[in-house]
Amino acid sequence: MPKNKLQRFAELRTFANVHEFLFNERENNFKLKGKWNKEYFKNNNPIVLELGCGKGEYSIGLAERYPNKNFIGVDIKGARIWRGSKNAQEKNLKNVSFLRTQVEFIEGCFEKDEVSEIWITFPDPQPNKEKKRLTHLIFLNRYKNILQQGGIIHLKTDSLELHEFTLEVIAENKFTKIYSTADLYSESNFGENWAEATELKTHYEKLFTDKGKKITYLKFQL
Ligand SMILES: C[S@@+](CC[C@H](N)C(=O)[O-])C[C@H]1O[C@@H](n2cnc3c(N)ncnc32)[C@H](O)[C@@H]1O
Repeated sequence: MPKNKLQRFAELRTFANVHEFLFNERENNFKLKGKWNKEYFKNNNPIVLELGCGKGEYSIGLAERYPNKNFIGVDIKGARIWRGSKNAQEKNLKNVSFLRTQVEFIEGCFEKDEVSEIWITFPDPQPNKEKKRLTHLIFLNRYKNILQQGGIIHLKTDSLELHEFTLEVIAENKFTKIYSTADLYSESNFGENWAEATELKTHYEKLFTDKGKKITYLKFQL
């Protein structure tokens, strides 16, 4: 690991807006489980997660748009979270935080009904490992255990395969599809969430659109 990366890892542990819940802790619950608002954000605002957040463009962009909501970007990669955390600090955003963990442990980090909405932004499509896809039923059942009734899940991806796979999971399990497009930027305004779906762009989204790839978007409830 380059020195710079090691320094960033050490620094990451000092950032007040970053939390870690790692593999060796998974037998216990995370210390803020059920207490994110009371002990960290110190308000009663709705909590929105960005899963596989990378550098957290959605968490930060949404936090700026919605000061009365709390945003938590979740990713396992410390270097990416370091960047997101720094960007949030530079913007002095108090309603955004980052959690370094695997999404597999999400139920250890949040209490039932603690989360009101989830964004999944450009997750690894996992072409050969269906069960590792963040929209596999195994993961959706985990989200069900932390999401409030009627909580919305948004998926943005460049992978048509992952988009279609998720549509199948929704249909097979009688979940509620609210909006789906295989080519987001060819659509006209579809109403609620249009602005954030089209105006916020992540690091990976920019890489994919530069290559001419179409971006898909899916909004659903469990
Ligand atoms: C393709 S990147 C997208 C990052 C960012 N959302 C973007 O669009 O720029 C996928 C991210 O998901 C994270 N990730 C993948 N599987 C994960 C898991 N099971 N738990 C936590 N993070 C995961 C990776 O570390 C990576 O940062």
